[in-house]
Amino acid sequence: MTLLTTQDPIRLVQITDTHLYGNASGTLLKMNTQQSLEQVVKLLQANQPQLDFILATGDIAQDGSKDAYEYFLEKMQELDTPLTWVPGNHDNAQLMDSVSSESSVADTSVADKKVQINNWLIVFLNSSVAGQVHGRIDKNEYDFLNECLSVADSDASVDHCLLCLHHNPVKGNADWMRDIGLQDGDRFFETVGQYPKVKCVVYGHVHQELDFDHRGIRCICTPSTCIQFKPDVAHFTLDETKPGYRSMELFSNGEIKTEVHRIASDLSADMDSTGY
Ligand SMILES: [Fe+2]
Repeated sequence: MTLLTTQDPIRLVQITDTHLYGNASGTLLKMNTQQSLEQVVKLLQANQPQLDFILATGDIAQDGSKDAYEYFLEKMQELDTPLTWVPGNHDNAQLMDSVSSESSVADTSVADKKVQINNWLIVFLNSSVAGQVHGRIDKNEYDFLNECLSVADSDASVDHCLLCLHHNPVKGNADWMRDIGLQDGDRFFETVGQYPKVKCVVYGHVHQELDFDHRGIRCICTPSTCIQFKPDVAHFTLDETKPGYRSMELFSNGEIKTEVHRIASDLSADMDSTGY
């Protein structure tokens, strides 16, 4: 476990769905994903001078290449802040593990799925299923989650827990998203609902800004650093909203303040695309 002591409130950012390619010219639906990430990082550097931790919630690479993961870690190094990543459906989870353990640019916390900052415990879950778009938390991952949360329950130094994963545990808000989220989200909420210190679940995958309450847990989703998905549509449709990231302040009393920041970019994507 990574243990950090810092300011109150704790200042985090979430970066998600970067969909990077190993090749700098790689585009996703005609948007260059390295360029859009670079612009998001510049905005982040200008806006967040006192940053404590970065949550990177999956779909780091679109092509699952080592070069894409190395590029991401090198880019994050510019922020000089510890980071943990989880895999998404486009990622190669095994490769991410080997890159994070071998890379000279990887911070020691990158592969650490349990991070305590002041009186907040952050648990990172792998919801990816090899070769599938939907997510699942398997037995090992549930065992890990229950272990983390039951230890935290009796640990007087932990007052609040925040969970991070890639897939949406609550059904998506477009018809085409119906089957791509976390399978058996009810089981997920029944499990975490047993632990009163769990305050919030943070995820990506649906490339949208969301912030709502579900079964007493705050659910937060963040725009991708590249393309965005339109809500309330029947078929896959891109949204005109800009790439961005989310800042979060975690207070020692359990309060969370958060905001999405978007770049003022002229980077465009193919708005007529019917899938990705
Ligand atoms: Fe994604």
